[in-house]
Amino acid sequence: MAKQDAPKKKLRVGLIGAGGIAGTHTDNYKKFEDVEVVAACDVSEAGLQRFKDKYAIPNTFKTWQEMLKNVEVDAVSVCTPNYLHYQPTVDALNAGVHVLCEKPLAMNATEGAKMLAAAKKNKKHLVIGFQHRFEGRTQVLRKAVLDGFFGKILYVRVQAMRRRGIPNWGVFGRKDLQGGGPLIDIGVHALEMAHFTIGSPEPVAASGQTWTYLGNKPSDIASNWRNWDWKTYTVEDLAVGMIRMKTGAIIHLESSFAAHIEKDLWTFQIMGEKGGASWDSASLYHDDAGLMLNSQPGFVPKVEIFPYKMRHFVDVCLYGRKCEAPAEHGLMVQKMLDGIYASAASGREVKIK
Ligand SMILES: NC(=O)c1ccc[n+]([C@@H]2O[C@H](COP(=O)([O-])OP(=O)(O)OC[C@H]3O[C@@H](n4cnc5c(N)ncnc54)[C@H](O)[C@@H]3O)[C@@H](O)[C@H]2O)c1
Repeated sequence: MAKQDAPKKKLRVGLIGAGGIAGTHTDNYKKFEDVEVVAACDVSEAGLQRFKDKYAIPNTFKTWQEMLKNVEVDAVSVCTPNYLHYQPTVDALNAGVHVLCEKPLAMNATEGAKMLAAAKKNKKHLVIGFQHRFEGRTQVLRKAVLDGFFGKILYVRVQAMRRRGIPNWGVFGRKDLQGGGPLIDIGVHALEMAHFTIGSPEPVAASGQTWTYLGNKPSDIASNWRNWDWKTYTVEDLAVGMIRMKTGAIIHLESSFAAHIEKDLWTFQIMGEKGGASWDSASLYHDDAGLMLNSQPGFVPKVEIFPYKMRHFVDVCLYGRKCEAPAEHGLMVQKMLDGIYASAASGREVKIK
């Protein structure tokens, strides 16, 4: 349905979790004329009060159960730590509410599959909060993939590497509450955009390793985020994984909160039979005229990815726009992450079902 033909109804939105990313969601919701932010909940009384004051939220609650029971919402953003993606999402879907769930989809694929089933049962949208697929460079490379530029895609090398970037807020160092470290927190972003770019092929097996050697000790090294809670740090500092796709392609993923490297890396490279590409420089490589050529697109769309992500969710809910970040993609990515962690624990390649 075109936007101008749509009913003049506003989307009534609630926030589950009122921390950092909930602020980014709300900053954008507040800019949309067809959205009303009607409620928020958070276990932190002080955090919730700050959020309420900053965004003038009319209804606030300590729990999402109270919020869903007492306020009529059409959609929610689930912005809680990873261990609280599953339950609020399922509860909201069962209450007949659309959900934008922050990344990763859940703690593991078992939870993720139940979330998808709840969306299907209730005929509600479940959108995964992946935004890097909307980036201009991702769009350019996706177009090249669709146009057959690479020929058969063989190998994709993905890097989400911080030299020293252990979050010193939230619960990002707690395996029990997050499911893992850099792999599930930032590797997930780079992996989703690379996997989306090559057409979201089905993953069939994974192998990998994880290491913890720095985050679980005190440190006085100068870096951006210091004084993280090293005493409760139970996640990996560095993870490496290799995932086999049904197509025969391999995705190789490196992710770190702390690693002895020259500089942070945030990119992926595609290598195919006919061509290759680097995401960070939006460069394309192929042979022509007897030469190895490096080329650059003359136009790369400039996309503000968070506003795009939030507008996209609203359009999916209100106007039936085709979803560009379906929960199914979130589940595939989750299975790859689970596979790498399972392989690291068992010391061998594991099948992905
Ligand atoms: N897409 C992105 O780029 C992006 C960026 C940052 C974070 N995230 C994701 O968003 C989620 C939250 O991250 P954050 O950086 O906002 O963390 P945060 O710690 O700033 O916020 C989490 C909030 O959830 C609240 N909370 C905890 N338990 C709760 C409960 N039972 N009920 C209600 N609220 C509860 C906390 O009090 C806190 O305010 C994580 O899953 C993270 O992976 C995504």
